[in-house]
Formats: sequence, structure tokens, C-alpha cells
Amino acid sequence: MRVLVIGSGAREHALCLALAADPAVTALVCAPGNAGTAQVAEHRPVDPLDPRSVTDLARSVAAELVVIGPEAPLVAGVADAVRAAGIAVFGPSAAAAQLEGSKAFAKEIMAAAGVPTARAVVITGGDGAAEALDDFGPPYVVKDDGLAAGKGVVVTGDRQRAIEHAVSSPRVVIEEFLDGPEVSLFCVTDGSTVVPLLPAQDFKRIFDDDAGPNTGGMGAYCPLDWLPLGTVDEVVRTVAQPTVDELSRRGTPFVGLLYVGLAMTRSGPRVIEFNARFGDPETQVVLALLETPLAGLLYAAATGTLAGHPPLQWSAGAAVTVVIAAANYPEQPRLNDAIVGGDQPGVIHAGTRRDGDGVLRSAGGRVLSATAVGDDLEQARTAAYHLVDRIELAGGQHRTDIAARAARHEVAIPAGVVMPGPAG
Ligand code: AMP
Ligand code: GLY
Repeated sequence: MRVLVIGSGAREHALCLALAADPAVTALVCAPGNAGTAQVAEHRPVDPLDPRSVTDLARSVAAELVVIGPEAPLVAGVADAVRAAGIAVFGPSAAAAQLEGSKAFAKEIMAAAGVPTARAVVITGGDGAAEALDDFGPPYVVKDDGLAAGKGVVVTGDRQRAIEHAVSSPRVVIEEFLDGPEVSLFCVTDGSTVVPLLPAQDFKRIFDDDAGPNTGGMGAYCPLDWLPLGTVDEVVRTVAQPTVDELSRRGTPFVGLLYVGLAMTRSGPRVIEFNARFGDPETQVVLALLETPLAGLLYAAATGTLAGHPPLQWSAGAAVTVVIAAANYPEQPRLNDAIVGGDQPGVIHAGTRRDGDGVLRSAGGRVLSATAVGDDLEQARTAAYHLVDRIELAGGQHRTDIAARAARHEVAIPAGVVMPGPAG
């Protein structure tokens, strides 16, 4: 199978590594790619946001499967164009990608499908923001409506800051604070069948102990030992399947990766957000444990044959990834710093490029992620941090506590489950 991967982040590097390891893949092209994908895939230039440019490339490399990594091309309709050219695509249409592209749309779908999520109101032009904030009470949650790469969300106890964020955007969603550990559950779907991958946990804040501003994600681990048995099935039954069914009912089926971001609250799993693509950095750890060949799975989703796909196989053990970000990320990341040790096994590239002299340099906010597996979380964590220690990037920032609480068995769902309904 000839596969074309669109994108240039760590997710695409992780996807390329898994695809390259699939014996069914006879050719792998990545566009535009980064210095990491260059090691495993052929590079071609492309404007990833231009449906025509991607379709022309898919034709010229005779791709039999196109995997679209990031959300922006999906929202721009790139999958629609490639699909219209008769090529199998893993990635939703622009209409279905609105699940990520618009938080207001996601809320509407969840309401229609009866999916449990935070109560929310949509505020336009700041009107009624203060009243809505006071109605929900602190901590306040204010989200930009459009794509913001995980950075348009403010969660704060500071009422003034919440109001400022609410009036700074044309449209925001203000919602109830969800208390509980977060889970990312990736669901592969062909528009009707849903196949969940292993749940993972991401670390959104820049500093240890979840301090500082939100980022795209500073590290992840998988699987989640602390998750009650049956949670994945419950999330598929109450969230993923009804969402996929609702989009299909509307004539805009979701084909690709439905990323369900959840809070495990005292009243059960509640959706925090949907994304329309693999998450970063969770992909690095989930794919590190996937034994099933990836191309066959994505092709089955792209061609509507997921129901006939064999059950997924996973390695035992755990995986941890630690992101190394540039100086001054997530504000204005400093670029062009030399990287030493970036070509070791387990190092996944995000914002990297190789200059004319062959020196690896930073080219984005999140630069690399150090990924390792182990028999358990503690081993995987030790190995991942050992790898971090062997990478040099001037001013590089990383968290030191990725997976630490989980390895110490300190992650817990808030106690005191409130079960409404008849007694006895
Ligand atoms: P989002 O882009 O919607 O995933 O939000 C980014 C991050 O903000 C999430 O991963 C959470 O850490 C936090 N967050 C978003 N919505 C809520 C909420 N309703 N309650 C608590 N935290 C939230
Ligand atoms: N790790 C969060 C995301 O990919 O949006």
C-alpha cells in the first residue's frame, strides 16, 4: 500500500514510524514533514491547507491511502477533495471536522446525541459574559469558539481575567468546571463502527504540578491503570458511538480519528472537548504500544470496512513521552537553536529542521518528545527521562513530573459518586 501522510508535527512522525513498520506499506511519503519524518518517509513539498495541492500530490505519488494529521487541513476541506478524487482518506470532511473546528457546534451535536458534557452557554461579542460566569461560579472556564491549538482556553479562579478573555473574542463558550482527572480516548471510526485505542493522559500546562498556561500538551502516558474497568466501553457507548451516529444521521459521517477528551468526574465521564485527529503528544505513547499494523487499521476506517477488522493487539507494559519545548513556549517560542541528540531511537520530532550543514535546529514551539516503553509506568518514565537527559537544546523546557503521580498510584477520580435515580 502506498501511503501519504500530511503534516509536520510529532504526531506525523509517530504515525510515519508506525506506518513504516507495517509490512503492507510499500511506499511512505510525508508532506511537508520535519527532520524526523525525513528519516522514514520520502518528502514532497505541499501546501497542507490547500485541497488542490494535497490532491495533486496524492495523485502524483499514486497514494492508495492519505492520512491527514492536523486539524487545520481537515477544517479547510482537504479530506473532501482527496476523497472526491477517489482516493481513500483517513480524516473527516470539513463538515464533520467542525466537531473540533467549532466548540459551539460540538456542544450542539452533544446535546442532540445525549452525550454527557459540561453545561455551557455560547457568548457572542461579550454580551452576557459576566452573568454567565456568575451563574456557573468559579473556577471559570472560557473557550474561544474556533481552532486555537489548545491555547484558546482559560481556566481561572480570577473573575476579571475570565471576563477579559470572554470579551476579547467574537464568540466564546463559557461552561461549567469539570473536576476530575483527564483522559484522552482515541476512537478510529469509518462513520459507523467505532474502535477505541488505549486511553492515555496528556499534561496540558507548561510547568510541573499543572502550573502555568495551557499548551498543546507537554507529555503523556498510557495505559491508565487507575481507570475503572469498563470505562472505555462506557465512553464508546455513551459518547463516541452516539456522536458518530448523529453525524452520520446528518449526512456528514465522521471518518477518521475521533479524539474524545474527557474529565473523569464524580458523576462519571464528561466530555471536555472533541478533536478530529490524533492528539499530540498522546499519539506517541498510544502507537508505541499498538502491535496491530497501523496502515491496515486506517485503511479499513477510510474504506468503511472497520467492522471486519480483527481486534487490536497491544503490547503489555506502559509508554511515557516527555515533550521538550523551545525557550519561551507557549508565548513566542525561540527558534533556530541547535539540537544535540535528536536522532536517537525514541526521539520523536515536532518542530525540527536540518540546516544546510546537517545540524538539527528547532523550528517550532514543541520541538521534540522523548518516548520510551517499559514493563510498567515507572520503568517507562525512567527510560523517557533518561532519553531527555541525553538531548541538548539551549533554553529547552520540559516537565519533570510526567506520569509521576500515576506511577505512584496517586491519580484518583473524585470520591462521592452522586447517583441520581430511584433508591434500592
Ligand atoms: P480544550 O481545548 O477544550 O481541551 O481545553 C483545554 C484544557 O482546558 C483541557 O484539557 C482542560 O485541562 C481544561 N478545560 C477545558 N474545559 C474544562 C472544563 N469544563 N472544566 C475543567 N477544565 C477544563
Ligand atoms: N494533546 C492535546 C491535543 O492534541 O489536542
